[in-house]
Amino acid sequence: MCAGPVREWVDLGRQPVSNAFLMPEEVDSETFFRLAVGICADCTMVQQLEPMPTDNMFRPDYPYRSSTSAGLCSHFEEVAHLLRDTELTGVDDLVVEIGSNDGIMLRRLSAAGVRHLGVDPSAGAAAAAAASGVRVRVDFFDERSAAEILATDGPAKVIFSANTVSHVADIDTVFRGVDRLLTADGIFVFEDRYVSDIVEYAYFDQIYDEHFYLFAVRSVDAMVARLGFELVDVERIPIHGGSVRYTVARPGSRERRPSVARMVDEEARYGIGEHETYLRFGRQIERIRTDLVALLTDLRDAGRRVVGYGATSKSATVTNYCGIGPDLVPFICDTTPEKQGRLSPGAHIPVRPYAAFSDPYPDYALLLAWNHAEEIMAKERQFVEQGGRWILYAPHVRIV
Ligand code: SAH
Ligand code: TYD
Repeated sequence: MCAGPVREWVDLGRQPVSNAFLMPEEVDSETFFRLAVGICADCTMVQQLEPMPTDNMFRPDYPYRSSTSAGLCSHFEEVAHLLRDTELTGVDDLVVEIGSNDGIMLRRLSAAGVRHLGVDPSAGAAAAAAASGVRVRVDFFDERSAAEILATDGPAKVIFSANTVSHVADIDTVFRGVDRLLTADGIFVFEDRYVSDIVEYAYFDQIYDEHFYLFAVRSVDAMVARLGFELVDVERIPIHGGSVRYTVARPGSRERRPSVARMVDEEARYGIGEHETYLRFGRQIERIRTDLVALLTDLRDAGRRVVGYGATSKSATVTNYCGIGPDLVPFICDTTPEKQGRLSPGAHIPVRPYAAFSDPYPDYALLLAWNHAEEIMAKERQFVEQGGRWILYAPHVRIV
């Protein structure tokens, strides 16, 4: 990130591409890497030590679809309203979204007649966005594509991105692209998972190939300053177990809100940036691994049925770090058609359609999509009424 010395924090072992759900004949040709993260002694950025090449991750058949969660749909509807009401007030203002996926955010702005462009290399997700009226460029956002967009569409008043900026190891090229494309008074707004929440709640499964950087306000502040921008506002948002919305502008073009200094102070008090904080995390996740495997083994030996709920990217880290395979969790149910009928990466647990969950209900469901717990538990009242129980694993293993 800044060429400072990076010290290893945690090693989650040999891991696959987290969204590479396999056909049975593909199991022998999987790509693995060592999933380990470290922290920079200078800028405090938490980052992976041995990146998985981007081309292995965001392929045309990348199966993740943002709109599978009702909670995310309403979150991005609010984002669209916010951008439209506060920033996209001119008739001709352009908004560009980096990592627009299936159009979950831009389709609202498109319906409102706002000039827009989504940029996403995953052709399948982009086709879904186009089907909902969103203009998409199937491409990686970088300096090259930004220059081409500038030539065809002109400058952007707003560049937005959610859960994507942290995925790009060569982040400088994203900011060089933003520098080319953004108007003089424009803003670059991005949302991403918050490392402070990951550490506090031992959300070790938020570490997987795509999350190359784990952002803190302090590290993002240093990063954007190095790249010629200014962090002018930050806001905590309750997405994916705890995220932060960062607002970045050209230096001096916007007032820097007190929220930035306040969160940097909070992080210093909490020990973000100190190695000791991260060592505690390592001990905690070893405990989770031991307890979760013991619980699943006991349930299996007692003849109880356990099913995984949500074939998340996160679940690749959990199953492969803990060594959980189909012997302990016979299948994972998921609503995404692109994942169904395939095997989970590395652990090779079959992914079955959502209908399999209640046919018949299992005794226990391992909630792998815990970041949507409220939505899922509200939807699955009948499972609990019939005696079913949820298994959660972070910050500690428990049955609820
Ligand atoms: N913004 C959505 C999707 C996040 S998933 C949400 O928050 O739910 C990350 C998305 O970023 C994927 O669709 C992936 O194809 C895309 N992506 C990855 N690298 C990218 C890059 N360099 N430029 C644009 N999109 C990228
Ligand atoms: P998510 O946790 O959003 O992402 P990540 O892959 O980044 O860890 O993925 C949620 C997954 O859970 C997705 O594959 C859809 C699935 N899902 C269900 O099967 N049922 C549901 O009710 C919800 C909300 C999600």
